Amino acid sequence: MIYELSGDNIDLAKAEVLALNKAKKYKIYKNILICKGKCDYTRLAYTNLVLEEIFIDTKIPNINWDKYYKDNFCIRSNITAKEREIAPIIWNALKHPKVQLNHSSTELWFYFIDKDIICGKKVYQREEKFQKRRPDIRPGFFPISLKPKLARALVNLSGVNKGTIWDPFCGTGGILLEASLMGLKIIGTDIDPLMIRAAKQNFEHYKIKAKVYKADAREEIIKCKAIVTDPPYGRRASTNKVIIKKLYEEFLAHVYPFVDIVVLMSPNDLKIKTKYKLVHITDDFVHGSLTRRIYVLKKKENPMPNPQQELIQPRKHVNHNQC
Ligand SMILES: C[S@@+](CC[C@H](N)C(=O)[O-])C[C@H]1O[C@@H](n2cnc3c(N)ncnc32)[C@H](O)[C@@H]1O
Repeated sequence: MIYELSGDNIDLAKAEVLALNKAKKYKIYKNILICKGKCDYTRLAYTNLVLEEIFIDTKIPNINWDKYYKDNFCIRSNITAKEREIAPIIWNALKHPKVQLNHSSTELWFYFIDKDIICGKKVYQREEKFQKRRPDIRPGFFPISLKPKLARALVNLSGVNKGTIWDPFCGTGGILLEASLMGLKIIGTDIDPLMIRAAKQNFEHYKIKAKVYKADAREEIIKCKAIVTDPPYGRRASTNKVIIKKLYEEFLAHVYPFVDIVVLMSPNDLKIKTKYKLVHITDDFVHGSLTRRIYVLKKKENPMPNPQQELIQPRKHVNHNQC
């Protein structure tokens, strides 16, 4: 399959696809990811388009285009000027061609990247309107709330397709809201009763079934497929750094015996020791003084393709036991 990744964060977009479709091998051409395996495309937050691969070559090869054609067609390209060049070639190759530019049944995409042409037939286009669930329009709002697009990607990084996601620092419930909309069971806990109230208001508003209650993340024990969470960053008082580091470390040490997968965010300058194996790391730039770091931690061997070599090496200050 061919995945056109959103340009906002290609690392994160790629990791999201690989975590969900469990592909062992992949190739990447700028923002185009090629890999085998399928997943529920509708879950993907950072993928714009999914295409069935037709060819990857330096020129357009001889192809039985009728094999891909249904009812009508249109040509799309990352270089708009190429669309007019390619359309007559496909037209001439088809037995009964009919062009339809909008809502075409056969949308053929041609990406020109360096010397390569990557061609595929569209099977899915993301139309998820994250704006409809913007934190500031939810009834339970605090400025700490995570945006739905990122929240969704974090859940996907866990690779969990079925079962329960626990967010032990759930705040207003942004991560769990997305997890629930993707058909997963959810449990949220937070030390602050105001947050629990806000999360409950949000779940009620979106008619979502959730178990939410007050608890300290360093003490609560919940059986789940994965933890996906966004603990506090300690930004409000810079001297809090030490406390924040302790909070992360105590939390991870506490959940290690009973949780296999943890996806979490922290400020990128925070180093935390953990027994978990670091299998993926991505930075998410927020503003000049805050870049969040996203970690996927696992107890067992990671199924993603060589993530440590590929993703950790460029950031030399991070090693397997520190995140
Ligand atoms: C960054 S916010 C989470 C925001 C959340 N992702 C959202 O979309 O609203 C961090 C949360 O951690 C909670 N928290 C801090 N220390 C905690 C602890 N020891 N146990 C559980 N929750 C804690 C705070 O009350 C806060 O709601």
